[in-house]
Amino acid sequence: MRYLFGPGPSNVPPRILAAGSKPIIGHMHPEMYEIMNDIKRGIQYAFQTENNMTIAMSGSGHAAMECAVFNTVEPGESVLVAINGIWGERVAEIAERMGANVHRMVKTPGGYFTNNEITQAIEKHKPVLFFLTHGESSAGLCHPIDGIGDICRKHNCLFLVDTVASLGAAPIFMDKQNIDILYTGSQKALNAPPGTAPISFNDRACHKMFNRKTKPVSYLFDMTHLSNYWGCDGQPARIYHHTGPVSGFFGLREGLAILVEKGLEESWKKHKEVASYLYRGLEDLGLKLFVPERDLRLPSVTTIAIPNGYDWRELLMYIMKHHQMEMTGGLGPSIGKVMRIGLMGYNCEKTNADMALHALADALKNCKKSKA
Ligand code: GLV
Repeated sequence: MRYLFGPGPSNVPPRILAAGSKPIIGHMHPEMYEIMNDIKRGIQYAFQTENNMTIAMSGSGHAAMECAVFNTVEPGESVLVAINGIWGERVAEIAERMGANVHRMVKTPGGYFTNNEITQAIEKHKPVLFFLTHGESSAGLCHPIDGIGDICRKHNCLFLVDTVASLGAAPIFMDKQNIDILYTGSQKALNAPPGTAPISFNDRACHKMFNRKTKPVSYLFDMTHLSNYWGCDGQPARIYHHTGPVSGFFGLREGLAILVEKGLEESWKKHKEVASYLYRGLEDLGLKLFVPERDLRLPSVTTIAIPNGYDWRELLMYIMKHHQMEMTGGLGPSIGKVMRIGLMGYNCEKTNADMALHALADALKNCKKSKA
């Protein structure tokens, strides 16, 4: 047993573990299709969308990221990527690998983009797709979304948003905010095991991806096939494409059911409350929060500036060894800048914040501190 208080995966509650341990059925049995239909409805609720083209990828958040880019962009087309942490870097690389003409808007981790800056960049590069991370887990930032969908619409550009670390923890309204493609992962606030990734496409995105001149580079992630596998293409029969992760889908369905029972508002409120409680405790320990603007902090993953004089690796190793607790360092451009505590979904409790604070206080007391 480990306390998974990093940016994910988070601990899986017994109810979801039990769902995942049910006997396997065939990936094309009628009962499996019912389960997939439930998952689709759960995702529609979690994303606040009525999009028919709503499915779960067989794979982690990266699968959804690649699926979004591979299906909506053709080689040579312009893509604009907002980079303020690792996830934008990843999307830029993925888009470059499939031959897109990639333009990067870059801020240091913790930074964010104004709607004005986004408008200017879109006018300059005329992208077919603009990517933004809502929950930048490497920086601990929750990016404002309002108004950006309208800007994209006005400029005939699709708006792709990554909510892997923020879904269920911070408000997002796919339809109201005019987000064309939205994805998340199973292993964060949804508390299911890693390995499945909800994604949804609206009509604008479907129009672009189903009227291509070239086939997407990936067969596995081709939405023509996946939309049939998920019963979203209006065809009477589903044709074999690939064998989905049956147990993973059982777990995802249960994770979504728990979120539906709890309610999004309640879940958002709880994450905010526990995060505020954690901020106070961290400040009482003399630590500095990495994102200064309180309203821009990601409620599910809190980033702490590395305290002066400490080796962050040593602190994290001490916490793992003496408290069986995972906290992590930075990721990509935030490596060496932050330590991260994630309290998501099932783990999002003040008692867990207390345990994390206690472990951190113990590490600060017992790890070497240089004079510098
Ligand atoms: C992974 O999602 C991470 O933020 O480390």
